[in-house]
Amino acid sequence: QRMDFNRTVLVTGGSGFIGSHLVCSLVNRHPDWRIINLDNLDYCCSLRSLESVEDRSNYTFIRGDVCNSRLVKHVFNTENIDVVFHLAAKSHVELSFEAPSSFQRVNVDGTRVLLGAAHQARHRPQVFVYVSTDEVYGAGLDQVFDENSPVRPSNPYAATKAAAEYLVRSYWDQYKVSSVIPRFLTLLQMNKKCTIQGTLPKSRHFLFVSDAVDAFLLVLEKGIVGEIYNVGSSCEIPIMQLARELVRMVGLAFNVRQ
Ligand SMILES: NC(=O)c1ccc[n+]([C@@H]2O[C@H](COP(=O)([O-])OP(=O)(O)OC[C@H]3O[C@@H](n4cnc5c(N)ncnc54)[C@H](O)[C@@H]3O)[C@@H](O)[C@H]2O)c1
Repeated sequence: QRMDFNRTVLVTGGSGFIGSHLVCSLVNRHPDWRIINLDNLDYCCSLRSLESVEDRSNYTFIRGDVCNSRLVKHVFNTENIDVVFHLAAKSHVELSFEAPSSFQRVNVDGTRVLLGAAHQARHRPQVFVYVSTDEVYGAGLDQVFDENSPVRPSNPYAATKAAAEYLVRSYWDQYKVSSVIPRFLTLLQMNKKCTIQGTLPKSRHFLFVSDAVDAFLLVLEKGIVGEIYNVGSSCEIPIMQLARELVRMVGLAFNVRQ
């Protein structure tokens, strides 16, 4: 049955907020591609978003940790992966100050394990897309920045994402593991309680998750390997205004912490 598919795509973190949208798009748009989701179902996963694709013949779910090098090597050596979208990460800024070592483990070690397995696989992937974040530019997001702006992470989450970017680039420089890095804008995380952190910039650009997914697919098809691409929009809105509107729309609790 696997022979029927003409591309095999591995999505790590495919059960998360962005990953689940990416997986659903890939499964629906490309019935001729096999989509494998590797995710350890951490507390933040969004399983309901994947219900519509669970029974599809071109979708496979593997529950596992990206830091588990035996498992990851096994996946690369048995599944003939052509494309990797690496999204699995610890991604909550506030938590990264409380438990920085788990961010280091998943975001840095996990990326290294994947790169090593991709590089050593008998069937080497054509493209490794590492999904990064604009957080690597630091807190001063009121300034205009581009792909060449200095990387100045200002929290452990951003520091681990930046470290992983450098790992990805080093595997490209050394072994020509073909990689592309979209850095995209942070979207509002919808927790039960909506908290505005005092350190955030006053206003930010926001992006629909479906536009982020379209951008990743564009990067896959048109991206030049070894390059970094900023993905953003011109939709800038004050954070307070956005939060108030969302709170009004969905009836969440509102909590301002300075
Ligand atoms: N959401 C945003 O606003 C945003 C903005 C910029 C960049 N990003 C990046 O995009 C990616 C996806 O973000 P998201 O918002 O969907 O995150 P998320 O927290 O919703 O999802 C992360 C997923 O990774 C999985 N995961 C965590 N640790 C794992 C491990 N050790 N092994 C396997 N799977 C593991 C989780 O179970 C979860 O399903 C992340 O790399 C993040 O840094 C997100």
